[in-house]
Amino acid sequence: MADRVLITTDDLEQAVRVNASLEQAGFDTAMVSSLDDVRQSVRGRQPDAIILSGGLHESTAQRLLAAARDHAVSTLGLVEPTDADPAEIGRELGLTAWLKKPADPAEITATLRRLIERRRLQQRTGILGESPAIQEVLVKIEQMAPVTSTVLIEGESGTGKELVARAIHDLSPRHGKAFIAVNCAALPETLLESELFGHEKGAFTGAAERRLGRFELANGGTIFLDEVGEMAPATQVKLLRVLEDRTFFRVGGTQPIRVDVRVVAASNQSLKERVGLGTFRDDLFYRLNVLSVYLPPLRERRSDIPLLVRTFITELATTHDRKFQGITPDALQILIDADWPGNVRQLRNLVESMVVLAPEGEIRATDIPRDVRERTRTLPMRIAQPREEPGAGSRELEFIFRSLVDLKMQLDDLRRRIDGRPSDRVEVIEVGGSTSRTPDSRLPDPLTPEPEEPVIYKTGMSMSDVEKAAIDAALRETHGNRRKAAENLGIGERTLYRKLKEYAID
Ligand SMILES: Nc1ncnc2c1ncn2[C@@H]1O[C@H](COP(=O)(O)OP(=O)(O)OP(=O)(O)O)[C@@H](O)[C@H]1O
Ligand SMILES: [Mg+2]
Repeated sequence: MADRVLITTDDLEQAVRVNASLEQAGFDTAMVSSLDDVRQSVRGRQPDAIILSGGLHESTAQRLLAAARDHAVSTLGLVEPTDADPAEIGRELGLTAWLKKPADPAEITATLRRLIERRRLQQRTGILGESPAIQEVLVKIEQMAPVTSTVLIEGESGTGKELVARAIHDLSPRHGKAFIAVNCAALPETLLESELFGHEKGAFTGAAERRLGRFELANGGTIFLDEVGEMAPATQVKLLRVLEDRTFFRVGGTQPIRVDVRVVAASNQSLKERVGLGTFRDDLFYRLNVLSVYLPPLRERRSDIPLLVRTFITELATTHDRKFQGITPDALQILIDADWPGNVRQLRNLVESMVVLAPEGEIRATDIPRDVRERTRTLPMRIAQPREEPGAGSRELEFIFRSLVDLKMQLDDLRRRIDGRPSDRVEVIEVGGSTSRTPDSRLPDPLTPEPEEPVIYKTGMSMSDVEKAAIDAALRETHGNRRKAAENLGIGERTLYRKLKEYAID
């Protein structure tokens, strides 16, 4: 079916010209004369794109653009030749693309085709968003997919790093081959090494059989090294070797193994900062950072929130078999204004809980939990601690530990999927005085790179009390996800386990 394009008639002469050339190029076009017509068309038989022929500064155009954004319809604006900076106008108005009048019909056609292709790419990859930041990410994905260079994806937790990694693989010539994800923070050093590179039979007690590592399993495909910043120094050296000459040894092996694997790595902290802190090798950083993608936090691209919310509502209402009408404008506004420390994942989980629980089949302001409504960031305090080096515990024990970690990761994943409930408000404990601090007050703490949250204490608390309360808060905030809680607290997952045992927290 031909791609459908609407053309507004604010500049009738332009509209007629554009309409004729697009028809000739095989588009299914329609000229629309008023805001209502357009909005109806957006809701009814959805166009693939809308061209605004003029009147970009009118309020009708702005409302149309908002409707188009909410329904994931691309927009191309024709900017007046007298306007000084079309790019500035385009960004200000939230156009997907813009051209200066009088635009060449061939250029309009080519731009439209590109926009429509990008929209298809979004449908295929599930990466939603009309903000310039997301559009830029999509352009990068298109450019990066065909080559084999290593990619580093950075962004806060829940911003879509894994989604992007999968998209790069799915759009690459490797898409028919394996995509293997490894979480580098979940395993202690020796286990991670045997996980990545495999081991020979008898390499250590418990290694009854030869086991292929993830690099071998990913041969021909892509390996996704998640939370790569958490990798121990010795493993970093081995990874560097693989990146340099694509060869490695299985643990206990003597034969070099050569693989053809594309490496995509992700980190939710700045790797460069980690290099500065001395916990990440700079040579490895440069090897990983050949191509890079940065995913900005949701609070820096709030214009994407309405589209995300509407899409999640439709999708999750179908999943849970709920008849659902949508969301009221004031409820949507609250979601747009919220801070979203957990980014898109948190937004999605919240929408899911509201779709299941909202009594009226519609999300209203009162259905939104208080902590989101009040826009408070509910992060636990951070206690700076040096990263614990994995101990030299026996290999057998680690072998058992591996199975437990695997199981735990699956459970966490399951829990994350089913537990869409918003976090309880996290209680923050105060350090350095009994007076309450406003969320904005900050204590200087040279050990914590980004001391965003107040670190608070109550008179009479011992250091263990403080630590226990912080762990409690972090677990509540992450819905019991220990990996995330450890990350938020800035300690290793194993350290968290030890402390949970020590403080008898379950
Ligand atoms: N732009 C987006 N459009 C649609 N869904 C998104 C987008 N970004 C993230 N999501 C959804 O949010 C959730 C979290 O995404 P993902 O797992 O890729 O994040 P992440 O950055 O890897 O998080 P973490 O650092 O915690 O591992 C997933 O359900 C994903 O589908
Ligand atoms: Mg991830």
